[in-house]
Amino acid sequence: MKTTRHRSSSRSAPARATAGGPFRELAELRARLAEADETLRAIRSGEVDTVVVAGKQGPQVFTLQGAEHAYRVLIESMNEGALTLTADAVILYANQCFAGMIKLPLEQVMSGSFHRFLSAADQAAVRPLLKRPAKSGSKFQAVLHAGNGSQLPVLISIRPLATPGALGATIGMVVTDMTEARQSEERLRALSHRLVDVQESERRRVAVELHENISQLTYAILMRCDTLARKLPARAHTSRVELLKLRDLLDQATEEVRRIAHGLRPSALDDLGLLPVLRMACEQHGERARVQLNLEGVRRIARLPAAVETALYRILQEVLKNVEQHARARQVTVCLRQQGDAVQLAITDDGIGFDPDRPPAKRKRKGGLGLLSMRERAASVGGALNVKSTPGQGTTIRAQIPFHSCALTHPRL
Ligand SMILES: Nc1ncnc2c1ncn2[C@@H]1O[C@H](COP(=O)(O)OP(=O)(O)OP(=O)(O)O)[C@@H](O)[C@H]1O
Ligand SMILES: [Mg+2]
Repeated sequence: MKTTRHRSSSRSAPARATAGGPFRELAELRARLAEADETLRAIRSGEVDTVVVAGKQGPQVFTLQGAEHAYRVLIESMNEGALTLTADAVILYANQCFAGMIKLPLEQVMSGSFHRFLSAADQAAVRPLLKRPAKSGSKFQAVLHAGNGSQLPVLISIRPLATPGALGATIGMVVTDMTEARQSEERLRALSHRLVDVQESERRRVAVELHENISQLTYAILMRCDTLARKLPARAHTSRVELLKLRDLLDQATEEVRRIAHGLRPSALDDLGLLPVLRMACEQHGERARVQLNLEGVRRIARLPAAVETALYRILQEVLKNVEQHARARQVTVCLRQQGDAVQLAITDDGIGFDPDRPPAKRKRKGGLGLLSMRERAASVGGALNVKSTPGQGTTIRAQIPFHSCALTHPRL
């Protein structure tokens, strides 16, 4: 059977001078601290199921419903912070793990406001979730400001425990420390950027080798074929026809090697910069996919850092691939703009569109890597990618990348 105790845990009454002077006052404070300690111990061990908190409108009784001993032991052994709160964010109960997270003794946590551990922006985000908690629960990411001045990235899950407006604990909260998850994310991101760099330099190397070795070799063979054809006597007509067919095949092979090398890494990207290469990519894509492709935007643009130009070119390639594979578009507009120290590439199609908020697994086809790799490309140069699409209304992909411009400019489009 549970013992019920009623305790007063007023934090608001200031210490008053009494007839006995400071010693008496000190003794009184000590006694109240001991009482608070005992109450906390009793709450945590499940001996108490009711707490009285002194408030502005007099004492309020909070019933620790369902706080049976077994559950308390379970909650205390969790590796996550667990709290119950009023809708006004007053902490009625917190486990030891939460106290550890915010580096404060448990008694300084209880009956205080949860808001004091949050920034003003996070307070504004959490307030409506506590006042009107969603039945199915809600989650948001925040940064906890601990008692020792340190900061902790956390995931906060909120669930209603009782009808809003009811006295007592209305909210249950679980606080998950995201430090390790964030560190792993950062490590993965760094690895992914490194892989992209390695892939890019490997592509450049293979493109140069194809161009310098294979293309030049096939070109030399072509020249010899031409010379041989000219030298053949008139009676060797059949041989000349065969030789010219062989020359055509070689010509096709040379063009194919050039196309592959260009796809791997257009040398114009290094030599001339982004704008001419975007123009070439748009022309080629327009012809191949039979869509009307317009290139709009600036006529002159500063020569961008190589990493930014490469990222934007790869994003365009990936977007045009998606347009060709999924969009069923008739018209595509590619727009490159420079706004101050940022460059923006926006590609809009008038195709079938899609719902970007639906996880790929829920779409008919299994989700691919294109959109993800575009985001990573943009992030790798400090930018961001925005996907705007509605089923039936086309798609706009916008990459915004900050840069420190160099003096060179491109010729007119
Ligand atoms: N322009 C677009 N129009 C219509 N749907 C699109 C468009 N771009 C992307 N999608 C949808 O988004 C999904 C995810 O695109 P994503 O590029 O990430 O993967 P994928 O193209 O399916 O595969 P991968 O790029 O790895 O070859 C596509 O399968 C498609 O359903
Ligand atoms: Mg794709």
